Amino acid sequence: MDIERIRQQFPVFSIPTLKDSVFFDGAAGTQMCKSALDASVRSAIEHNANLGGHFSTSTLARQEIDRARCAAAALVNANCAEEIVFGHNMTTLTFHLSRCLGRSLRKGDEIVLTRSDHEANISPWLELAKDLELSVRWLPFDSQTYGFDISEIESSITERTKIVALSYANNITGTINDVALVAALARRKGAIVYIDAVQFAPHGVIDVQALGCDFLVCSSHKLYGPHHGILWGRLEVLEALIPYKPRPTSDSPPYKLETGTKSREAIAGILGAIDHLAWIGREFGGASEQSDKRQQIVAGTRTVVEHEQGLVQQVLDGLKGFEGIRIYGYCEPSELSRRVPTLSFTLESTPSEVVSQHMAEQGIRLWHGNNFSTETIGALGLDQNDGVVRISLAQYSSQDDVQRFLSALDRFSCPASHRPHRR
Ligand SMILES: Cc1ncc(COP(=O)(O)O)c(C=O)c1O
Repeated sequence: MDIERIRQQFPVFSIPTLKDSVFFDGAAGTQMCKSALDASVRSAIEHNANLGGHFSTSTLARQEIDRARCAAAALVNANCAEEIVFGHNMTTLTFHLSRCLGRSLRKGDEIVLTRSDHEANISPWLELAKDLELSVRWLPFDSQTYGFDISEIESSITERTKIVALSYANNITGTINDVALVAALARRKGAIVYIDAVQFAPHGVIDVQALGCDFLVCSSHKLYGPHHGILWGRLEVLEALIPYKPRPTSDSPPYKLETGTKSREAIAGILGAIDHLAWIGREFGGASEQSDKRQQIVAGTRTVVEHEQGLVQQVLDGLKGFEGIRIYGYCEPSELSRRVPTLSFTLESTPSEVVSQHMAEQGIRLWHGNNFSTETIGALGLDQNDGVVRISLAQYSSQDDVQRFLSALDRFSCPASHRPHRR
């Protein structure tokens, strides 16, 4: 992958005050690619009308949303575009969905959550459990894999389990969890499987058919698009759902779950972001103009993953030599395919906040703290406020970025004479 050509697709790198930044904050939100920005602006100018009218701006807006739905269906390998629901963001979609699913739950029913999840896939279910007096069972955090512990699934998922909510990749440690295994067991017991793929989606090929889940949700703003959420739901499950909606809103999926006026410019931007991924597949991944969109997306994603894994190795090689550093996640070259390029660490002698302030002064944008993963941070025995220093690489990250980050981190290492382990 030609990194310079990728970076040219991101207008932020042509802004004088920003072009020298290192954007290692992608797990919280990536920069927007040109095709997403162009599509959003075009939608706001050329198709700025609500849906359902006979006039051209309305019909064009509708067509664009239909195309975005088809593209999102190709992204996750859905059966049809009606399985794609757009919403404000993953968190809001999950609160909404949890309320709708709760309509068919009864006191004493069980739900299974994991201690490897972001709060966006915990709090909605805990609130539901409180309201309906459901029992909550937890899959513990596994300090060996830095994800959830699957050895406990047989005892955690029972005949009474109605929902299993779990994350594809941990947003602190980067571990890719074996969600297909859990989904298979959960479905055998008749439970609904809800997967948070927010952190996995930018770094791996999603195939909801192979996963065997019922819902999968991700964020466009971590996929180089605008701030918006994308939810996939199995059609028959969506059809059976009793939604909270205004009476005149359609009773059919996906419309019954998309209440109120849609953010047409965000949805158009999602189409632009997925087109960008398909473009990478054609330019660098060996897909042709004739390949269908899914093939182009898969080829684009694989190309990005290969690039990112090379950078993760470079980061790990640099970090491992630091004395007093603790990295939370897979670190060995043979383990790279088991993680996404989000790496968290703490330094023995320096608070994470101090590292993050220093990096900000150097133009290196990264996050510290718990990143809304309070269960993971608790399981790692870390302070909830100071948490970890987290860097998250993206398709536009370069070897140069990694080098700048490692050099900036050098400020916190001991003098050379006191660093026997430094490579
Ligand atoms: C794993 C994970 N799930 C969910 C979310 C929430 O996503 P959204 O910003 O779309 O609400 C985040 C945000 O960082 C996340 O990392």
